[in-house]
Amino acid sequence: MFPKVFILSVLLSVCFLNLFDCAVPVITEFLSVPTTVKARENNSVLLPCYLNTGSSGGIINIKEDGAFATTIKWYKNKDLLVDSSDPDLHLPDGHMLWSNGSLEIFRVQPEDTGEYVCEIIRPKPWSTVKQTHAIEVMHPPSVSPFPPTGFLQVKLGEEVRISCTPSGVPYPIVSWNFQNEELKLIDHREMLKFTASDRYLAGVYECSAVNGVGEAATAQIELNIIYPPELMTSRSWIHTAPTHRAQLECKVSADPQAMVTWLKGEVPVPLDSRVVSLVDGDKYTLLIRNVQKSDFGIYTCRAINELGQGEITIQLSGVPNPGVFKKTDDNALAGKNSYKLIWEVDSYTPIIEYNLWFRLYRPKTGLSKPDWTKLTIPTEHNSGPVYSKAYTIKGLKEGTIYEALLVSRNRYGWSKPSPILRFGTLGADVSNDLATPVQIHTQDDSNIIPLDLTASSSCIHSGSVLITLLISVITCNNIIFVG
Ligand SMILES: *[C@@H]1O[C@H](CO)[C@@H](O)[C@H](O)[C@H]1NC(C)=O
Ligand SMILES: *[C@@H]1O[C@H](CO)[C@@H](O)[C@H](O)[C@H]1NC(C)=O
Repeated sequence: MFPKVFILSVLLSVCFLNLFDCAVPVITEFLSVPTTVKARENNSVLLPCYLNTGSSGGIINIKEDGAFATTIKWYKNKDLLVDSSDPDLHLPDGHMLWSNGSLEIFRVQPEDTGEYVCEIIRPKPWSTVKQTHAIEVMHPPSVSPFPPTGFLQVKLGEEVRISCTPSGVPYPIVSWNFQNEELKLIDHREMLKFTASDRYLAGVYECSAVNGVGEAATAQIELNIIYPPELMTSRSWIHTAPTHRAQLECKVSADPQAMVTWLKGEVPVPLDSRVVSLVDGDKYTLLIRNVQKSDFGIYTCRAINELGQGEITIQLSGVPNPGVFKKTDDNALAGKNSYKLIWEVDSYTPIIEYNLWFRLYRPKTGLSKPDWTKLTIPTEHNSGPVYSKAYTIKGLKEGTIYEALLVSRNRYGWSKPSPILRFGTLGADVSNDLATPVQIHTQDDSNIIPLDLTASSSCIHSGSVLITLLISVITCNNIIFVG
């Protein structure tokens, strides 16, 4: 079966019988070099294993090196594959030991990947020599997702663990895409672990495994985040008047879908042909046609699903909208000791009077703020729904900055305060101060709007007045109003 080996053995025996002059070898290295063979599946791989037999080429020169094999063994991952001296040991299918010592594997498969050691056993005095090769059967990547269904549902705030386990040779690297954008991760991690802190983290996560062999492998995991209802409204305060039409809007997002109800107080709003509840996608509307005075009040849009409930309140009111100071060229308005304020108020019912509050402006938030001065200003006989008015405050200090706010009253009561206006009399350096956003802290409430502001209010109960005022101060905070 191994004719050459057999011949070598014979020659060696001859040598040891001193038929030849067998010198100690000078060169005993392998002529083959240790190699790692990267092979595609189904390719054939030849692993060499032969010694430097001298320079004479072809014909074995025993005299010079005497490097002959008596036996050749091949090991795969330390297990003996073949032993040329053991005819009973059969090589696995598709393997061949050539007479020159090379091991050939036909049509390699992924399981052929491993370390291959060839061992050459030589007659004394030569020692046994070994050479190590390796085969890496390259294999295109594949990837298995976790959860294996490719679908994961968590509650908002819960931990998300999704992963993609790749296989392939060489070992693939994994990258992740979310909403078609690559996630910027510091490494090629196979598991993503994060908190579903935001419902916008829901969507399709796609992993892709690449190893340079064949196509990338991808897998998708769809993450669904369920959450209690979240509600929004564009207007939480709606001005109306009898005979008008009012529309209360509430935008609900929830998963699973929420049950939405409209309440007034704690009582569900009775629906009929005049009061209608409409749904358009996630937008819920309570439409009130031909408003009656009894419709005024605080409405609640309440949404409930398995995970919880959410609600917002919307007030339907007959009182005027908060007034707005008109933004005009300062120079035209400011006098040495006076300032002309111009404002507009929307109201479906006529304005009866205005209260204009003003005081010195102190940029530093200290404890003692100057007191407010209240001016009661009568209306002019113009018709709505937009009421405008100009008023000149006199007796002001020269070169001084003031702030002002406005409330107005119609037959249903006092409006919420307008945003605060800052203005300066002639010579005041308003530029810097006015460029700074107005930051009014809620702690300052009592100081900003006198509590008797709406004392004469006829329609709203004092309890809700306070609340309304607090809310309005908060909403005023971020408004910069420059005169
Ligand atoms: C290897 O051969 C098998 C059988 O012919 C075939 O199914 C497989 O696709 C081949 N693999 C590659 C990578 O060509
Ligand atoms: C060993 O024998 C095989 C099969 O005949 C041949 O393909 C290979 O080239 C040989 N290797 C050397 C180094 O001669």
